[in-house]
Amino acid sequence: MLKEAEEAQGHKLKIVVCVSGGGTNLQAIIDGISNNTITNAEIIRVISNNKTAYALERAAKHGIPSVCIRPKDFMDREQFNQALLHAVQESEPDLIVLAGFLVVIPQEIIHAYQNRIINIHPSLIPSFCGTGYYGIKVHEKALERGVKVTGATVHFVDEGTDTGPIILQKAVEVEEGDTPEILQKRVMEQAEWELLPKAIDSIANGRLTVENGKVRIQGGKL
Ligand code: GRF
Repeated sequence: MLKEAEEAQGHKLKIVVCVSGGGTNLQAIIDGISNNTITNAEIIRVISNNKTAYALERAAKHGIPSVCIRPKDFMDREQFNQALLHAVQESEPDLIVLAGFLVVIPQEIIHAYQNRIINIHPSLIPSFCGTGYYGIKVHEKALERGVKVTGATVHFVDEGTDTGPIILQKAVEVEEGDTPEILQKRVMEQAEWELLPKAIDSIANGRLTVENGKVRIQGGKL
């Protein structure tokens, strides 16, 4: 297609989604694109580090190409990191979305894609985040501490663990009798599945900038 024609149609944000498990956040992105909550974006590839991740079936059902890259298929971590970098680079994404990806992102990828990698974390950062706080553990710790409110955060990924510029947060109430599993489900339903599509839509439509380590939203609010 001619460059002018492409520009006239508008450039769609090309997204690579990295997953490890159920893929409900991947599903929220797929649904957001199909119901136009997310515009100007397309998922071009799903990368999983786990062959049995249900997220891979979700990708297949929607005709999204996927690839599985597992640490155990490589001699050492460095080779796995290189394979991951290669899988990302050959897709030429505009944005990488970590949607429940349980792999520590190699520094090389972080440097190559500054302010172009986002992550969803199931707490209100800076609470219950950092090394060791992932998946169900986050909710276990929140209940152990007895907080009355928790939530989710979408943020850009930098060199640290859960330390990058915050894009969006939403609070979710803890209820009497919550187990980690019940709380995890409520945080997903009430916060994660809403925040992640919203953040992607804002990036795809140029409404976010990062200045001095902080996210600025055009118009002040999403
Ligand atoms: C979500 O709670 C996400 O916040 C966390 O891992 C979980 C992934 O769930 N990082 P899913 O695979 O998207 O269903």
